Order: sequence, then structure tokens, then C-alpha cells
Amino acid sequence: MNAAAFEPALRWTGEALEVLDQRRLPAETVYLRLDDAAAVAEAIRGMAVRGAPAIGLAAAYGVCLAARHWSRVLGGQAGPWRTRVAEDMARLAASRPTAVNLHTALAQLRPLIEAEPPAAPEDLLAAVSRMHDRLREADRAMAEAGAARLAPGARVLTHCNTGALASAGCGTALGVIRAAHARGLLGAVYATETRPWLQGARLTAWELGRAGIPFQLVCEGACGALMQQGRVDWLVVGADRIAANGDVANKIGTYTLAVLARRHGARVMVVAPTDTFDPTLDSGAAIPIETRAAEELTTLAGRPLAPPGTPAWNPVFDVTPAELIDLIVTEKGVIEQPDRAGVARLLALR
Ligand code: MRU
Repeated sequence: MNAAAFEPALRWTGEALEVLDQRRLPAETVYLRLDDAAAVAEAIRGMAVRGAPAIGLAAAYGVCLAARHWSRVLGGQAGPWRTRVAEDMARLAASRPTAVNLHTALAQLRPLIEAEPPAAPEDLLAAVSRMHDRLREADRAMAEAGAARLAPGARVLTHCNTGALASAGCGTALGVIRAAHARGLLGAVYATETRPWLQGARLTAWELGRAGIPFQLVCEGACGALMQQGRVDWLVVGADRIAANGDVANKIGTYTLAVLARRHGARVMVVAPTDTFDPTLDSGAAIPIETRAAEELTTLAGRPLAPPGTPAWNPVFDVTPAELIDLIVTEKGVIEQPDRAGVARLLALR
């Protein structure tokens, strides 16, 4: 796959983190320059950068910015340096609740901050750069492993945006679709519009179009009819957090699609790097689910869709039970018919 075929979600300039502002896509391709951890936390909270692996990596660069900033302000890493950096890490950790990749990335850096003496800012940056390389390589490995499971002519339905915009490399589920397209395997690609934030209509459609992959956009309400007509072989999605028993939290609507898939004989593939697993949670019931503002439902690009003051419930993730999932594809291997034992076996390789 040609890496230049996609726009990276994140760019490190040497001095600052640049994020491709996903709120402005597809109309404008604009990178925001972020100079400190507070700006990174705000970019994650406000969804300028989104998607589980991408927000984990953005937070990791945010720690680099914090470490450098407080070294400059305090004249080194003495005194309250560690406290100040820890405060910035807490701010980053609180920016969004569901994607565990955020916490996985921060946990990977914490020993460097807590070491005596702490790692120098340039060593932290080197560690984050290695994390970036590892996640990029994980995307590539998952793309190949997932595509290898598709038969020629496979017709796939995907949900939300799981492409380069959401990750460090070619993407998770969309990476599988890119690799399958490169192998000439795809019979059809359907992308849901993904109400209410429209990650599918705005971002996945943009990425598929730029990659030259033929597809059709569908609204979530059409997916039952699509599957009933026998037009979907695989539902291919990403994940924001996977519990110890294999339950998967992903974009709201994934559960509905997985139930429909089971009803209509389509198979379900979840594609996620091992950083997305949270073995501390016994099942999906314990996964914190983000609820966002009612305005995401009641307005569109600032214009009212519903009468003013309409109350709305806007959970932005749901949990698909492991029993509805056929495969979880990771960079370390594939779990078939996921369950507690399968997850434990895979995580032993991490
Ligand atoms: O709210 P978002 O856009 O951050 O949600 C993203 C998703 O749910 C993706 O499907 C997920 O992060 C997995 S793939 C990168």
C-alpha cells in the first residue's frame, strides 16, 4: 500500500504537533498547530482529532509538549516538574472517556516521567516516535491479516471512520478495506453515514474517494434492508475498547449492525491494535460510554434540525457482545470467536 495515498491525522514538526482538523473535512484540509498539552487535550475533546489510536498518539505527543514546556519554565526537570507534567497528563486523560488507547499511551510513558531522574524531553520524544512507528506498523499488519480473511468478491459494510484519519498509519478497519482493494478482492463497499457526527459521510467517504476505492454511502436505517437483500458478507469495524471477555465498545450503532449481521448471516470483523484492549475490565458492561451534547443531534453545521430545546440522548459508543463477533484482528494475531481465553492468549503476546 502506498503510504502517500493518505493524509496523516498527526504530524510532528519538531516543535509542535499538527493535527488535521477533522471538523472541517471534507470541505477544507487544514492542519491545526498545537503547542502545549492543554491545546492537545482541547483538540481531542473537541474532535479536531478523533479515532482511538489517533487520540492515544496525540495525547502521547501532548506529554512531550508538557515535558518540554515545564523544563523550559522551571529550568530543568527539578522541583515541581514531575507534578506539572502529571497535571497535564491528567488533563489529557480526561479529554475523552471511552477509547482506552488514550490511557494505554499515557501508561506507556508514565515510567519515563516517574523514573529517577526522569527521562529528558528528547528521550520522551524518541519514545513517542517509536510508538508512532509501532502503531503505523500495527495498522499495516492488521490490514494484511484482515484482508487475508476475505474471499474474492467480498462485499463489506463499514461504520464510522477507521482510516488514516483515526489512526497512525493506513487505519484499522479501513486499512483492511484498503488492503483488500489492493488485492482486488472487493465486490462492494458500503460506508454508513454514521449519525450524528457523520464520520462516515464526511471522513470515510473522503478517504475512500481519495484512495480510488468504489463505494456507496448508506444511512444506518438502510443497513437492515441492505443485509436482508443479501448484499453484505462482512461487517468490518474498529474498536475503542475491548474488555477481557472480548466485548467491544465502538461507535454508536455498531451493536445494531452486529445484531443485523447475525440475523442475516453476515460475519463481523473487528480490527484493533492490542493497545485497544483493556483487560482490567471484566466485560463490556464496565466500559465507560461517552455521552455528548444534544446539539450534535438537534443541529447540523450550526443550523437547527429539531425544534429549539428538543431534548436528546446522545451516547456516542455502544457495546457489542463478544458472541456477535466472528474475528478480532490485531497486529499480534487474530482471535476467532472471541472469548475470555482467546483474549488472554492474545494479550500474552503483547
Ligand atoms: O467518536 P470517534 O469518531 O472518535 O469514534 C471513533 C470510532 O468509534 C472508531 O470506529 C474507532 O476509534 C475505532 S478505529 C480507529
